Amino acid sequence: MNRIGILGYPLSHSISPEFQQAALDHHQIKATFHRWEIKPDKLNAFFETIEIVNFLGASVTIPYKEKCLGLVDKITDSAHLIGAVNCIVNQNNQLVGHNTDGSGFIRALKTKHGFDPCGKNVLLIGAGGAAKAIAYSLVQEQINTLTIANRTVSRGDELAQRLKLNGPKINSIKLERQTLINPLSNVDLIVNTTSIGMKNGPDPEHSPVPPDLIPQNALINDIVYNPIETPLIKAAKIRKAPTIGGLDMLVYQGIEAFELWTKKDAPENIMYDAAKKALGL
Ligand code: ATR
Repeated sequence: MNRIGILGYPLSHSISPEFQQAALDHHQIKATFHRWEIKPDKLNAFFETIEIVNFLGASVTIPYKEKCLGLVDKITDSAHLIGAVNCIVNQNNQLVGHNTDGSGFIRALKTKHGFDPCGKNVLLIGAGGAAKAIAYSLVQEQINTLTIANRTVSRGDELAQRLKLNGPKINSIKLERQTLINPLSNVDLIVNTTSIGMKNGPDPEHSPVPPDLIPQNALINDIVYNPIETPLIKAAKIRKAPTIGGLDMLVYQGIEAFELWTKKDAPENIMYDAAKKALGL
């Protein structure tokens, strides 16, 4: 039996096994999708003992996305530039580290919501790992401007510096009401990548953008998927702005990974239905 799975610690929250197994079963691929909850001191041993012959690949999640850069045989250019691996593919018995977080995010925007980021003004909230992957992919899509708003400005500055090498007009600001007013006056897409609004997170009750400042004509995308309706999404709906919830990026990074592992078209609806079921929706 072929082996495939998700690698992380802890993993109790992950719904990847449910929606990836549904896709494997749909295509009648004889493979089991495992939950590899590996403690940090066992990570190297995990890689040393992989039976490469039956190993199709793995999804990688917190806290191993950066560590895996040094544990695979090869890294794609995008994973290298983003600085993180979220998907490992067995390619002719070599482990190749990819990053499908950003490409999955863009694919969801384009195919599911008909939003082409080319030429658009984007406000990105946050400057952590997820923000990095999304920012990199948005720049590749030739957006017009990118404003990075983060609590810790130095981290936002660092990301802006990194992207300026090949980027559009990039600006880093502090995440606070006053500094958000100007970028919000001319924005097409707002993406929250922080854990503000996340259940059991540091600030579950708040929206990262003050509700009264949310523009009606911008697309509001929150990558937090628990709860499915975050305070930001709720506030955007009240303002009658179009919204995208976090389930889309989660499923689409998995769709991109599935296609890399199996070279088959991912059954998108089946994966969505399985993801929703796993979340009890
Ligand atoms: P991930 O890999 O999920 O992106 P991360 O790299 O830890 O996680 O990044 C978390 C992001 O959420 C950061 O932008 C962080 O801001 P700082 O760089 O200032 O730490 C942001 N964040 C987390 N909790 C926050 C809070 N309570 N208020 C504002 N921003 C917060």
